Amino acid sequence: MELSANAKINLTLDILRRREDGYHDLQMVMQSVTLADALTLTPAQGEEGCAASNLHFLPTGGKNLTQMAAAAFRAAAGAGGEVDVSIQKHIPVCAGLAGGSADAAAVLRAMNALTGAGLSLARLAEIGARVGSDVPFCVLGGAALAEGRGERLTPLPGLPLCHIVICKPPFSVSTPQLFSRVNVRKIVRRPDTAGVIAALNAGDLTGVARRMYNVFEDVLDRRRYGEIASIKAALIDCGALGASMSGSGPSVFGLFPRLEDAQAAQERLLGSYRDVFLCAPAEKNV
Ligand code: C5P
Repeated sequence: MELSANAKINLTLDILRRREDGYHDLQMVMQSVTLADALTLTPAQGEEGCAASNLHFLPTGGKNLTQMAAAAFRAAAGAGGEVDVSIQKHIPVCAGLAGGSADAAAVLRAMNALTGAGLSLARLAEIGARVGSDVPFCVLGGAALAEGRGERLTPLPGLPLCHIVICKPPFSVSTPQLFSRVNVRKIVRRPDTAGVIAALNAGDLTGVARRMYNVFEDVLDRRRYGEIASIKAALIDCGALGASMSGSGPSVFGLFPRLEDAQAAQERLLGSYRDVFLCAPAEKNV
């Protein structure tokens, strides 16, 4: 079975509080995008399933998120066998784009279809929450407000037609480390989450773009912050209505009403960066 696993961007990311269990309560408006990994699922050749990809450093056994998703599905649905997963990665890893979560979510949906288990997307999202905080959103796709750890989802109208340029600078940021640097009481700048939701409901691209923000941008060290800021400036300079960092970074994206401007931005950033993608908002899964 062939599957496509869409990346996501954060139109907003706000941290509300640190919880007793070490996680944080978040408020994020997420949007899935057409940048996607391609997966192939086949019955396992050996006794246990494995995951192969074009990136040699990804785990191939039970620690691969796709195998964790398959195991979570089997345990919850009481159906399905071991599967081999072949992954063509197009979504950069450790980039704030939920690449691993997208692959896990695609496997959950595929196993549901292959076994005829008939679980609802909401139930699959629940199962996905055990694999990773962004998996529930990736199961649903489209646009949603994610709260709690990221598992409480309220679907929203997706972004109006636009072009999205995503640029990942060549450093990675450890998500737990970034969370540990946040002092929730000292966050000064926050995204206008309610404003972004109202703008999505009104189909107002400019209104969304002007209100986007990610509180993680404030806790980056000087050098990294400088690089994120310069990518944002380049995107805006080329005609983006707004630009922000996605997730725990370091990917930065800009929203463009005009395709020619988005293409020019991609070309300009490709002069300095390898991972620069031009994509569009993706529809929710059915
Ligand atoms: O759930 P996931 O494995 O994606 O989370 C990675 C890490 O990010 C967690 O171990 C935790 O340190 C941090 N995290 C958090 N609050 C969240 C989501 C993630 O503190 N809501």
